[in-house]
Amino acid sequence: MIPYSRQNISQKDISEVNKVLRSNFLTQGDNVKKFEKIIANFTKAKYSVAVNSASSALHIACLALEIKKNDIVWTVPNTFAASANCAINCGASVDFVDIDPDNWNISIEELEKKLKLAKRKRKLPKLLIPVHFAGLPYDQEKIWKLSKKYKFKVLEDASHSIGARHKNQRSGSCKWSDITVFSFHPVKIITTGEGGMALTNNKKLSDKMKILRTNGISQSNFLYKKNKEKPWYYEHQMAGFNYRMNDISAALGISQFKRLKKFVIKRNSIASQYKKYFKGLPLKYQKIDKDSYSSYHLFPIKFNLKKSKKNYLNIFRKFRSNNFYVNVHYMPLHLSPFFKKKGFKKGDFKNSEDYAATSISIPIFYHLKEFQIIKIVKLIKSFFKR
Ligand SMILES: Cc1ncc(COP(=O)(O)O)c(C=O)c1O
Repeated sequence: MIPYSRQNISQKDISEVNKVLRSNFLTQGDNVKKFEKIIANFTKAKYSVAVNSASSALHIACLALEIKKNDIVWTVPNTFAASANCAINCGASVDFVDIDPDNWNISIEELEKKLKLAKRKRKLPKLLIPVHFAGLPYDQEKIWKLSKKYKFKVLEDASHSIGARHKNQRSGSCKWSDITVFSFHPVKIITTGEGGMALTNNKKLSDKMKILRTNGISQSNFLYKKNKEKPWYYEHQMAGFNYRMNDISAALGISQFKRLKKFVIKRNSIASQYKKYFKGLPLKYQKIDKDSYSSYHLFPIKFNLKKSKKNYLNIFRKFRSNNFYVNVHYMPLHLSPFFKKKGFKKGDFKNSEDYAATSISIPIFYHLKEFQIIKIVKLIKSFFKR
């Protein structure tokens, strides 16, 4: 089965993980700190907090930003449940901003409209969680300006986009946000098995997230110096979690990071190949403006079914029956049973619904072979022929 995305593991990755397995520290050794430093240097964010998943990173980010009961948090419907769960698990209520019909990221136009209305109704969000969909950063600067005007915080869900850029800023720089989160799940650009990271330029937020990931316990140098006569001293300061990344994962991350650039270049080259082979077909791709460079976590194609008069389900079935595990990213979150119970319904966010009803993410990953690409292209062409 060829999936829509897959990890690439080298002999070097395996030997780096083996080294940790043979060492004294499987967790809380040097690798986590080293991995955090590497990612902070790369993104140019000042602080980085490694955790065991992006979902955990989003959760502690919301807690650090003091999201609580009765707060309102906005995200997009075209995302994975974790982008909303983080706020719900802090007691907040979640609402959505529809996506742009061309770049499939948050629609700035819709956001502005919704903010104006929310201001009048005194229902402004405390936090916005925009997503770098498929590896493409949205217009971060514009949203940052709106966040200052309407006084909300910005938590970027960049789970898809390590290695991407916008206006010469690397994804994760936090130039235009309070916190940015990456995922290192195996389908993402680089992997740590399961894993994630929160980045920020704000020391207070970073310190708080570090305490939250370690069961709310602080063992900082400051506390140590204050209690020199008790070298064992630590403080339980808040109700936290065990969200730590372990050293085995971090060693894999460090090794994978060395190939990040290669991975992203290859994903971009596969995307260009697809576009070249599909020329002339009634398909639409994610619109990428001249200021942005995508890391192509996904390669979604949107079918113009009005033009081709074809059945979407057939193409999906055809892929799956030919052993290509294509997928839909994402079934609109507001139409999940959870959000339907909260009153959301079909028609609320039409662009996200239309996108999900006519799009498929086709395989894109580092070692996808030319003959597999050709097979995928043939499948799509045959679908349009019949
Ligand atoms: C947009 C988005 N946010 C968050 C997550 C959660 O990532 P993780 O699996 O590392 O918890 C994912 C995972 O697929 C995602 O796609």
